Amino acid sequence: MKLKSLRLALFAATAIASAAVFAQAPIVIKFSHVVTTDTPKGKGAERFKELAEKATKGRVKVELYPNSTLYKDKEELEALQLGAVQMLAPSLAKFGPLGIKEFEAFDLPYMFPDKSVLYRVTEGAVGKDLFKKLESKGITGLAYWDNGFKVMTSNKPLRMPTDFKGQKLRIQSSKVLDAQMRALGANPQVMAFSEVYQALQTGVVDGGENTTSNVYTQKMHEVQSHLTVSNHGYIGYAVIVNKKFWDGLPGDIRGQLETAMKDATKYTNAIAQQENDQALEAIRKAGKTTIYVLNDKEKAEWRKALLPVRKEMESRIGKEVIAAVEKETATLGYK
Ligand code: LMR
Repeated sequence: MKLKSLRLALFAATAIASAAVFAQAPIVIKFSHVVTTDTPKGKGAERFKELAEKATKGRVKVELYPNSTLYKDKEELEALQLGAVQMLAPSLAKFGPLGIKEFEAFDLPYMFPDKSVLYRVTEGAVGKDLFKKLESKGITGLAYWDNGFKVMTSNKPLRMPTDFKGQKLRIQSSKVLDAQMRALGANPQVMAFSEVYQALQTGVVDGGENTTSNVYTQKMHEVQSHLTVSNHGYIGYAVIVNKKFWDGLPGDIRGQLETAMKDATKYTNAIAQQENDQALEAIRKAGKTTIYVLNDKEKAEWRKALLPVRKEMESRIGKEVIAAVEKETATLGYK
């Protein structure tokens, strides 16, 4: 009898001890992305980590994997769906291959005359609808993070559409970006972000398009002699999580993480423009790249060459999404 109760006491003590260990083990969120920590997205991810760990008093640990250290572009989304990582922030251009082509509306040339139109779209019905479409893919959308408008880079000046003839230019995996480059007479090449620098350096591609913060932090300007400030298109992100993981979190934790994400989003969107402006200045100072800002006549030529892409891609992306964006543009007084 004595031995039995001793065994029972021992069993109970072990159970309590392992429950305590279990309760203390933090919930780990692996957050993978492809840019450096010194970019709007990289800084946003760091801010989210800081806020999330503080709000949950360490019950959640956010592990950051920047600069493609864990996964490259395409692998990222697969890893999230499999649950190998819990959080990502891929650019909106990378959702087409997932079967949600409406995201490619964000890639259309000259779709957003400025950030105010963009925010109305991401924070309005279109933004919500796109997140709803992610659910069937096992993904929950949490926020839209800004980066900025794109520049073109190459080893020759790209001022008029005729300058693009025969240029091999790297694009993200978006059919709209493919159509955009073809409309300019260029030869688009889909390539993972982490491979761009080397491809530029070795001449596998002649150039590409990106935001200045991405160009600078990947050192692309060191192997590109010309940069054109064209603002012809946009790069932004959807911060997404594995739906099963997210739904399985204790309600209080999920709430704290949602608040942390809201604050991290405000921060990221507030710094995005200045990060890109500073990057352009840093590229100028580095002295290896000639920076050219399109004049009005050149801008008009670019628009003439690129606007037909909207019509061309309408059946792929969906008339409704394009119309919804155009409505916001018109509401704000743009033509
Ligand atoms: C690119 O692949 O050029 C960008 O989407 C990278 C990024 O995440 O900003």
